[in-house]
Amino acid sequence: MKIGVFEVRADEARCLENLQQELGFEAVTRQEPLTLENAELVRGCQGISILGQSRMDEKLLEKLRELGVGCLTTRTVGYNHIDLEAARKLGVQVCNVSYGPESVADYTIMLLLLLLRNYKPALYRQNVNDYSLAGLMGRQVKNLTVGVVGTGRIGLKVMEELSGFGCRILASDPYPNEKARQYGTYVPLEQLWRESDCITLHAPLTTENYHMINRETLALMKDGVILLNCARGPLMDTEAVIQAVEDKKIGRLGMDVIEEEEGIYHMDRRDDILKNRPMAYLRQFPNVVMTQHLAFYTEEAVESMVEGGIRNLCGMIGGEKVPGQLC
Ligand code: COI
Repeated sequence: MKIGVFEVRADEARCLENLQQELGFEAVTRQEPLTLENAELVRGCQGISILGQSRMDEKLLEKLRELGVGCLTTRTVGYNHIDLEAARKLGVQVCNVSYGPESVADYTIMLLLLLLRNYKPALYRQNVNDYSLAGLMGRQVKNLTVGVVGTGRIGLKVMEELSGFGCRILASDPYPNEKARQYGTYVPLEQLWRESDCITLHAPLTTENYHMINRETLALMKDGVILLNCARGPLMDTEAVIQAVEDKKIGRLGMDVIEEEEGIYHMDRRDDILKNRPMAYLRQFPNVVMTQHLAFYTEEAVESMVEGGIRNLCGMIGGEKVPGQLC
């Protein structure tokens, strides 16, 4: 069995080699994403595995089919980078992975605490021996109402972790989760926008929720609202978010993701001219903490991503129905 593994990072290599020895497959491995330009590399492979930066649109899936590839796994939870409808039509089987929700949930809580306690300006001051306190007074989590948008595995874990702080928790999801009711109250989305001091996004990106944070929804929120996005950049209309930071509608902002991060995040681009202007602009605000899509990035999650992705791929090639099968 021959497979193609793309977007392979150095930290995935050991786990990949162990699996190769155990399962006995031949692998073409590349650091770069899979594209139409390098697709010839997978000729002779029965399946391929990618991360989130290989944009699997209809054309690329057609090319895979032409090259004889019938199975695709993404070593990610999110699968908004794969055109599932086209995959279904072309008969390409696709599956994703699941890893412990703690990685992203812990990170979300960390971002909330960093923002609430003004860690960014405190750190900047310390770097120039300014140890003053003025302007750094924080707030306690306990006294907040936190709105959790999306109560799948990650949203649910965030609610569970938040419940330890004793804050009021609101939740919204088109498919409510019974387990979430022990930590918070489901309310209509509009009520969540209006009543929350902090709003944290944990929804998968779909056509329905694209730019769910926009001028209209921001207008409903409390002045000084804290917004957290550890899910997907396009859930937020970045221009509307910038305006809201400038207008002080948003009081604190934590973004582990941003629109058009592909090709920038997870890469060393220090010598390049980057063209994501909103990213560069947002980063300069003292009340905005941005990170490079690393909420998932723990030893535990990475091991599950490689293990799950490669075992599922081999399973699918062998004709098994595997966990996370999407089509
Ligand atoms: C996911 O698993 O969905 C992530 O966001 C991780 C990242 C490597 C794309």
